[in-house]
Amino acid sequence: MAVRSALINVMVMAARKAGRGLIRDFGEVEQLQVSQKGPSDFVSTADLKSEKTLRIELERARPGYGFLMEESGVTEGTDPHNRWIVDPLDGTTNFLHGIPHFSISLALERNGEILAGVVYEPLKDEAYWAEKGNGAWANDRRLRTSGRRNLGEAVIGTGLPFRGKGDHPPYLKTLESVMAATSGVRRFGSAALDLAYVAAGRFDGYWEYGLQPWDIAAGILLVREAGGYVSEPTGGHDMMRTGNVLAANDHLHLPLGRLVKLPPATVPPRLTTAE
Ligand code: IPD
Ligand code: CA
Ligand code: CA
Repeated sequence: MAVRSALINVMVMAARKAGRGLIRDFGEVEQLQVSQKGPSDFVSTADLKSEKTLRIELERARPGYGFLMEESGVTEGTDPHNRWIVDPLDGTTNFLHGIPHFSISLALERNGEILAGVVYEPLKDEAYWAEKGNGAWANDRRLRTSGRRNLGEAVIGTGLPFRGKGDHPPYLKTLESVMAATSGVRRFGSAALDLAYVAAGRFDGYWEYGLQPWDIAAGILLVREAGGYVSEPTGGHDMMRTGNVLAANDHLHLPLGRLVKLPPATVPPRLTTAE
């Protein structure tokens, strides 16, 4: 049985509240697709509104905690030990195009360590959550990474670099080798959900370069608590700083790592620094 702590309840409730706003706005986006101005401004407002709701709810429940948020950056709290790491809308491009696959990602960092994470999918009312030492869950269902041992049977998630992001040719080499070795590669467009899918055993593995801490903080804990392994593609453990991530079930982490490791000189630098 899933026993949710008070902390997880606070996080899920905040995500649900922000999620209700996103659902309303997503409905509007579908109308705006056809208008001349297009939905871009509207979507950035939806993103900001979601962040504001999350901040208000989390602050009310845990006054004094700090924040690292995608839109508003760092806010120091009066409590120097705890901070929330928040992506108010992960999968913005999907949202903007009316593609129903996006999430909210929330993590609690205590003394530099991620203690709790929630990735919430508003359109499905599905909360993926994990607390250190307490397993990973989707609503009340326990999550486990997949048991596949053979790369040939594996489905692997990734994030393709796009205009203005990353060095494309070296990335394409990794993509090519994963395509040739596996059952298929998927690019769904929300890194937080990609990691949740690894935790849920839907993806057998996932890799991406150049992410931000708010994309991955919650998802990394989900994968680990579901029994999977997460590192940088090089094997290092500085994902929150480099934004380079390789997550997989225990059996496939090493063989997948061999395919997606880039020579250091070609690893795309992160566009912005978060801290
Ligand atoms: C993006 C998504 C996407 C990933 C991008 C991220 P955003 O976050 O997680 O899957 O490939 O690198 O920037 O902009 O939608 O919050
Ligand atoms: Ca994001
Ligand atoms: Ca975002």
